[in-house]
Amino acid sequence: MGRMDGKVALITGGAEGIGATVARQMVAEGGSVMLCDLQIDKAKALADELGERADAFELDVRNVDQWDAAVKATTDRFGKLTVLCNIAGISEPGTISDGTLDVWERTIDINLNGPFYGCRAAIPAMEASGEPCAIVNIGSMIAMRAASFVAAYSASKAGLQGLTRSVALDCAERGVPIRANMVHPGAIRTPMYERYKFSGADEPENIEAGMAAAHPMNRIGEPEEVARAVVWLASDEASFTTGVDLTVDGGGSIRS
Ligand SMILES: NC(=O)c1ccc[n+]([C@@H]2O[C@H](COP(=O)([O-])OP(=O)(O)OC[C@H]3O[C@@H](n4cnc5c(N)ncnc54)[C@H](O)[C@@H]3O)[C@@H](O)[C@H]2O)c1
Repeated sequence: MGRMDGKVALITGGAEGIGATVARQMVAEGGSVMLCDLQIDKAKALADELGERADAFELDVRNVDQWDAAVKATTDRFGKLTVLCNIAGISEPGTISDGTLDVWERTIDINLNGPFYGCRAAIPAMEASGEPCAIVNIGSMIAMRAASFVAAYSASKAGLQGLTRSVALDCAERGVPIRANMVHPGAIRTPMYERYKFSGADEPENIEAGMAAAHPMNRIGEPEEVARAVVWLASDEASFTTGVDLTVDGGGSIRS
């Protein structure tokens, strides 16, 4: 018996990185997944590889109408929706002094407005399932500490923390069986991290060493380590856990 038996998850950012790894683990644990991403070809290829209990849908999380269509596609394909994983996100550099308005708007749109639209679209379908449901939003170690070099990203992830707690409270107070929690990764070896490592900001080995040193465990994390936390929060094993911040950051957020 798998921890995701009977669960149907809509996963944004499901084409690669943490989202793709969550999808792999959820299918391995008995769940069904709808991989929603801008990169539809990659999402479809992964869905084909994962088999019958996986499908893909082209979604830009900034588009409210596409969200309604993504939820409908999921319930049409798998009969219900019981898990929402808001994983799609971007990280672009910019302090409050040198960051552009463009970076601010794009980051807030994808990292904060996207999950807001997603929760609004998914919650009615989750309620209609009549089953225990879960929302897992991906924050960041930076939501817990902030970082000057990514002002918009820090704000978007801290904002998402407030949204997640508000959703958790609303569902609990209404007696709706939907839990909402966050996973906050440290630096994780995904395409997002590799883009930064080879961005030219510094020698790649210096970036790797500097990023590792930001974590007391002195290494970069692996997407499988984040995915295991997401799967736990999405599963009924976490049945009395709502509104929490689960850090998967090698201790990065607790160091003073
Ligand atoms: N990798 C890290 O070091 C790290 C650290 C902390 C938090 N995170 C967070 O984890 C999440 C996943 O990060 P990752 O490292 O896997 O990133 P990634 O760039 O490797 O993958 C992100 C995925 O999201 C998709 N995406 C981007 N914009 C989208 C949009 N508008 N609509 C739909 N899909 C969109 C991309 O196509 C891609 O498939 C993000 O929210 C990120 O902020 C990552």
